[in-house]
Amino acid sequence: MTYQNLLITEEEGILIVTLNRPKALNAINDLTMQELGQFFSEDAPKRSNIKGIILTGAGDKSFVAGADIKEFLALDVEKATNKSRTGNNIFFSIERFPKPVIAAVQGFALGAGCELAMACHMRIAGEKARFGQPEVNLGIIPGYGGTQRLVQYIGKGKALELLLTADMIGAEEAYRLGLANHVVPAGEEITKAKEIINKIGKKGPIAVAKCIEAVNAYFQYDADGYEKEITEFGNAAGTVDFKEGAGAFIEKRRANFVGK
Ligand code: COA
Repeated sequence: MTYQNLLITEEEGILIVTLNRPKALNAINDLTMQELGQFFSEDAPKRSNIKGIILTGAGDKSFVAGADIKEFLALDVEKATNKSRTGNNIFFSIERFPKPVIAAVQGFALGAGCELAMACHMRIAGEKARFGQPEVNLGIIPGYGGTQRLVQYIGKGKALELLLTADMIGAEEAYRLGLANHVVPAGEEITKAKEIINKIGKKGPIAVAKCIEAVNAYFQYDADGYEKEITEFGNAAGTVDFKEGAGAFIEKRRANFVGK
């Protein structure tokens, strides 16, 4: 599929997805959201050889400066509810992607941009990154999981402070609070994300996918995370990769995982 607002390249077996509307600071409009949905549910799952995905924004000023506010004026209750449900489902498909998805955040990650970064498995913040949920400035609330995932990452008190004041925080503060996994010099966000994905690429891919599933289950109201872990621990033990990984340790050699 060809995309209008996403640039997709492959480097070192990693897909780099760049939200590409720099004139609007990469704000997510309906087409971008539709393309993210298409990419994560249809196209990326078919790329079975990739090690992971890096999401970033075009230019050095902004990762994503929010949902496209220019499209907000046409919203009514029904349209906004549908927009939020669609966006939430698409962001779930990112969170549930079975390979690592890392946000390389070089500038503003505001509103839907912060929500997109939070739907990824990890966030690498460049030193100029700025995170925030400024929706209350517009008289609305986050609609793509922001009220839920911000609490998951930084706890209720700080999440409420950021949501209610619309304050932005910098990279160091995001790191201190647990929102950013690493802070790196400006321009090195993708390099760091690649380093992490390359490291994960050497592990058993089925085990990696099952870790993502089990961690996600902790945050699902309709799932029992411990039960999920028990089931997937059992299932992992039945894989060729488990025999290989454990055998390689005993034989003091590097494991050669095959994803089966
Ligand atoms: N939706 C649509 N367009 C956006 C946008 C958004 N969320 N964020 C920025 N833009 C556009 C601006 O309208 C401007 O376009 P123009 O040149 O056609 O007027 C362009 O991007 C540059 O933004 P500008 O505001 O001039 O840059 P700045 O450096 O002065 O400020 C921000 C940067 C991020 C602080 C500011 O753009 C901002 O507050 N954006 C909205 C953030 C927000 O509320 N996000 C949550 C939305 S729910």
